[in-house]
Amino acid sequence: MISQYTPLIEKSLESIRKSYSPYSRFKVGAAVLTKDNSIYSGTNIENISYSLTICAERVAVAKAISEGHKVIKAVAIATNKGHFVPPCGACRQFLKEFCDDMAVILVKSKSEVKIYMLSELLPESFKLKF
Ligand code: THU
Repeated sequence: MISQYTPLIEKSLESIRKSYSPYSRFKVGAAVLTKDNSIYSGTNIENISYSLTICAERVAVAKAISEGHKVIKAVAIATNKGHFVPPCGACRQFLKEFCDDMAVILVKSKSEVKIYMLSELLPESFKLKF
């Protein structure tokens, strides 16, 4: 089960190093897996005007969508703190836009992960049917 996500987990861990987080020093790496098995990574990008900060998950999603992908199957999230960090509420809603449901893999290390479904982390989510 976890082995199918090994490249995604590795990418999330690699992306921690790229973090631009001089204000919080909290480095986050994320990687998303698209429907056709492409992987896009992202890191958190902070700003002196703090509220402009972008989370790692949303950076990874933005990269995938702007390359033409529409559906995301999984996201892996890692930090420099060595513990499991679930996505913030805004990221949960942002992720929901591009799936019916997806695996959310919290990464402590390459071999220590917790896997949730987004529907567990964002139950009864807001989505309009067009
Ligand atoms: N952060 C993320 O990148 N993802 C989350 O889901 C939660 C928070 C970042 C934003 C900020 O740069 C730092 O972590 C501390 O909040």
